[in-house]
Amino acid sequence: MAPRENFGSRFAVIMAMAGSAVGLGNIWRFPYMVGEHGGAAFVILYMLSSFILVLPIFFAETIIGRRSRQGTFGAMEKLAPGTPWKWLGLFTVVSPIIILSYYSVVGGWSVEYLFKAACLDFTNAEPSEIQGFFGQFISSTGGPIAVHTIFMLLVAGIVLAGVKKGIEGFTKVTMPILFILIIALAVYSMTLPGASEGITYLLKPDFSEVDAHAVAAAMGQAFFSLSLGVGTILTYASYMRKEENILASGVGTAVSDLLFAVIAGFAVMPAVFAAGIEPGAGAGLVFDTLPFIFNKMGMGAPWLSAIIAIIFFVTILVAALTSAISMMEVGVAYLTEEKGMRRGSAVLAITVFAWCVGVLCSLSFGPLADVKLLGNSIFDFLDKLCSNWLLPAGGLLFTLFVGWKMSRADVFDEFTNGGTLKANVALFNVVWFLLRFVAPVGIVVVFLTNLFL
Ligand code: PHE
Repeated sequence: MAPRENFGSRFAVIMAMAGSAVGLGNIWRFPYMVGEHGGAAFVILYMLSSFILVLPIFFAETIIGRRSRQGTFGAMEKLAPGTPWKWLGLFTVVSPIIILSYYSVVGGWSVEYLFKAACLDFTNAEPSEIQGFFGQFISSTGGPIAVHTIFMLLVAGIVLAGVKKGIEGFTKVTMPILFILIIALAVYSMTLPGASEGITYLLKPDFSEVDAHAVAAAMGQAFFSLSLGVGTILTYASYMRKEENILASGVGTAVSDLLFAVIAGFAVMPAVFAAGIEPGAGAGLVFDTLPFIFNKMGMGAPWLSAIIAIIFFVTILVAALTSAISMMEVGVAYLTEEKGMRRGSAVLAITVFAWCVGVLCSLSFGPLADVKLLGNSIFDFLDKLCSNWLLPAGGLLFTLFVGWKMSRADVFDEFTNGGTLKANVALFNVVWFLLRFVAPVGIVVVFLTNLFL
């Protein structure tokens, strides 16, 4: 077997993890979840879940990954050989591939919007025309499948290039650019006439709209956004060097991911109100809103709004790609390390499978709209299944593994780099308590309330 690759520096690790975390989850999913679940109150629940329930899972996954230096399945076999924990390893190989399949459909939409922007199709269009386009496009057959295919091929190409050249090289350059751009967009969006309503919507909580579903959705969003519970962070951590600091990487990734989501909220929500779009409009929210902002930014010059739009859709696409590659890498690590497949064949197998499921998801906005799974379209069903159930379940099992199966001494050793990191030593007991009690109990409580209320 080829020697295992490593990320080359601390910056590279943070950028790759942040690259996985920051993606369509922040730009596309977060704003519409906020809109569907009552604004500021949802944002608060999401922040609480991120730090109390989800950050401990980040530590759990990094501890497992770096200690074992294996993908999810191999990690369980190495740290708990011959036990049923291997099923957790297998479970977390499958779930990111399911996410990849529908994620690629949305990634495809951003490819389409990039093309449209380049052809000046949106310039000077009214909000209602822009909204009409979205509905029409996603419910058609060939177009969305074509762009889903393009997106999937881009993902496959990057993953094929390997950890260092592909993933590290790509994320290190693109993540900082994305951050700067989204801040600029938010600042502009907040100055639009009528924006203040959107700002209030994000800042003034109204807890009367919060129900058990909103709480489950907030936790699901936190898992989805931080890429946790599916072995992605575990797999990336297995490429981390021994001297890296798990506490710092976790807090760094969580804070940048959260900031990014909130800033994206401030970029989108004021414009939603300024354009007179319904905040609960669902999965199309960002696609309906962005062209409207770009038109305003162009100040009547179509070429200027087109340039702004192109820059943005390219970066959104990049953000989506850096997340999608992390989903694919989990399965690739499994197939190459456990099944002895070559990297190319592993990438091919996952691409074909996820592409096929993605086609069904794409068609569920059009010809297959009547196919309902527990009352949801195929797309919504898979998204809810993954975010609200599979990810938290995977996360729950990872934290139980670290908190109750691994020895305290091993966890301490890994978390503090053998006792050499002073801050980590000082905080260890808090993290240990969160890992063993708070996170597992919290996740189970959210599960039960969602199930029975
Ligand atoms: N965190 C990614 C995003 O916000 C999505 C993701 C989920 C990536 C699960 C990997 C695993 O877009």
